[in-house]
Amino acid sequence: MVLYKVKVATGSFLKAGTMDSISVTLVGTCGESPKHLLDHIGKDFAPGAVDGYKVPCEADLGELLLLRLHKERYCFFPQDSWYCSYITVTAPDGQRYRFPCYQWIEGYRSLELRQGAGRTVCHDTLALLLEHRKQELRARQRSYRWKIYAPGFPRCLDVRNFEEMESSSNYSLTKMTPGAQETPPGNSNSLPGFPMKVDVHSLMHMDANIRYSVTKTTSLLLNAIPASLGMKLRGLLDRKGSWKKLDDVRKIFLCHKTSTSEFVAEHWREDWFFGYQYLNGVNPVMLRRCCRLPENFPVTSDMVAPVLGPGRRLHEEMEGGRVFLADYQILEEAPVNWLNGVCQHVAAPLCLLWLSPSGNLLPLAIQLSQTPGPDSPIFLPSDSEWDWLTAKTWVRNSEFLIHENNTHFLCTHLLAEAFSLATLRHLPLCHPLYKLLIPHTRYTLQVNTIARATLLNPEGLVDKTTSIGRAGLLYLMRTGLQRLRYSTLCLPDSLQERGVLSLPNYYYRDDGMKIWEAIECFVSNIVSYYYPSDTSVQRDSELQAWVWEIFTQAFLGRESSGFPSCLNTPKELIKFLTMIIFNCSVQHAAVNSGQHDFGAWMPNAPSSMRQPPPCVKGTTTLQSYLDTLPEVNITCNTLLLFWLVSQEPKDQRHLGHYPDQHFTEECPGRSVAAFQQRLAEISQEIRVRNKTLALPYAYLDPPLIENSVSI
Ligand code: FE2
Repeated sequence: MVLYKVKVATGSFLKAGTMDSISVTLVGTCGESPKHLLDHIGKDFAPGAVDGYKVPCEADLGELLLLRLHKERYCFFPQDSWYCSYITVTAPDGQRYRFPCYQWIEGYRSLELRQGAGRTVCHDTLALLLEHRKQELRARQRSYRWKIYAPGFPRCLDVRNFEEMESSSNYSLTKMTPGAQETPPGNSNSLPGFPMKVDVHSLMHMDANIRYSVTKTTSLLLNAIPASLGMKLRGLLDRKGSWKKLDDVRKIFLCHKTSTSEFVAEHWREDWFFGYQYLNGVNPVMLRRCCRLPENFPVTSDMVAPVLGPGRRLHEEMEGGRVFLADYQILEEAPVNWLNGVCQHVAAPLCLLWLSPSGNLLPLAIQLSQTPGPDSPIFLPSDSEWDWLTAKTWVRNSEFLIHENNTHFLCTHLLAEAFSLATLRHLPLCHPLYKLLIPHTRYTLQVNTIARATLLNPEGLVDKTTSIGRAGLLYLMRTGLQRLRYSTLCLPDSLQERGVLSLPNYYYRDDGMKIWEAIECFVSNIVSYYYPSDTSVQRDSELQAWVWEIFTQAFLGRESSGFPSCLNTPKELIKFLTMIIFNCSVQHAAVNSGQHDFGAWMPNAPSSMRQPPPCVKGTTTLQSYLDTLPEVNITCNTLLLFWLVSQEPKDQRHLGHYPDQHFTEECPGRSVAAFQQRLAEISQEIRVRNKTLALPYAYLDPPLIENSVSI
């Protein structure tokens, strides 16, 4: 008789423990143990507990391959979910095995875990282990299915599948997915006073492993309810009509001012700040160097001479690489929406900017349509105060639409969802890339499902607040995805292509590049450990199925996009993984966290425009400006959303923080530590730099970046 020492760790949070009966079977190269009940006197599997047991066995089992966990009814107690973190087993010869689990186990079922060393399909030779991989993926592919949300969209999670599976008898035996922690509260509700209905019902059927935790849900509600009730009480959420005066916008959020939102309200009219936002605002990806003016934007040197100053000519400035263009052509065909019974308007501006000797990026000229002519004047800083401010505000409205729909939702949320789904469907728990990527998928499926149920749905918040509505959103995302290129998602390539490598004071670029390189170095260490050669990448059939599914489901198989449909070398794999981790964490922080800061002063980011763009100069006034901006209730609805999504609800995990130890070998452990060390250095550098700035740029300070798209 020999004894195996087994330790079982239960998650250290609310409701992680279980009263159910738990047994184990150990499976080794020389046989398997009898099923053994893990039972002490007193309470087993309490939250945060690490319970030790002895499992007797007639003979040594050889090398341990699998651990089978059985969760069954205990006496008369009702079934409850259990979050198992990990299990360790010490064999009679002293050999120690660690079995990472990090998942909820619901219902009565058996679950097989592999010991924690990362293994690709090429590493496995035993039929038992190869079959185990297949079974695991088959079960996941039954649970996590793709759905077409709208034509031309990246495919997304089919939530209804959970509902259907739940009603089938064998569901609890097929759910096998790790990820999030803590189950959400079990009720369906809408937020009191909040303008959008939260259809929690559709979320209730989601696998516990991808749902928001109790902490996160509660924190989200606690952020939302006071703000929405405050507005409701003051009658703002229901008030139609124009703002009486601009300053009234400041009164929306009496308690939610930030130093940046105050700075914006102070400087929003200034040209340097208008230019600054192209670099360090919420949409820092729009600007391109302009070497030649587009034919449909006939700006002359005389027009811009007052800004350039004596002795400077426009073409020379362009040749010198100091002129930049923001082109909103994608909005030209966007449908328009009705708000409060009024038809809204959309422009497709062209905006020319110049890098002045002082280092400020200054707007030179704005045309509010793609068709030049007498009906589409080119607005200049020398125009009347309200003409120029109206033109700039139109550009800010275009920024809002492109930022929210394309830069934010399409390029971070929706693509992150597709990366998450492909990872769940094609990489088993023991796969090193699963271990690497799973922390960067946390809560993404949940937050996008919430977004589809509350924002993107017909008559959802997008329909209630924006000039293009849901139809416009569908149009912009479809068109955006058609034009999206691999290089857009790879920061070094994107900066190079846009010609913005040498722009001064571009903190998004500076911080983003440091973190890109840190991620690349981390990923490179992991990849070189598990993939020593080109062949090892090419022969990993799970990896190839994963990348193919991303190509076909996220990028709809469009070869001209430049996205890979297969990966042939470790170098290609490193770039692809860096791109995924960067966009799921860093890029999302850059385009998400500042929404309240830059949008709370509504004229800086209007969600809609009620009057058409002026087609002649000299017709604008303060009143026409107020009558063009969104009405009071539309403004408040938008700002509530900004407030909500700019606060990452509690239960956060910042970039590089991996409390779930999926990797158990020393080498990846060292890589994680080196990554964390580098991120700490970057954070220090950012904080020192920010002390010298009037408006600090902290969105890419690593401790403030979430590991995944989760809000
Ligand atoms: Fe977001």
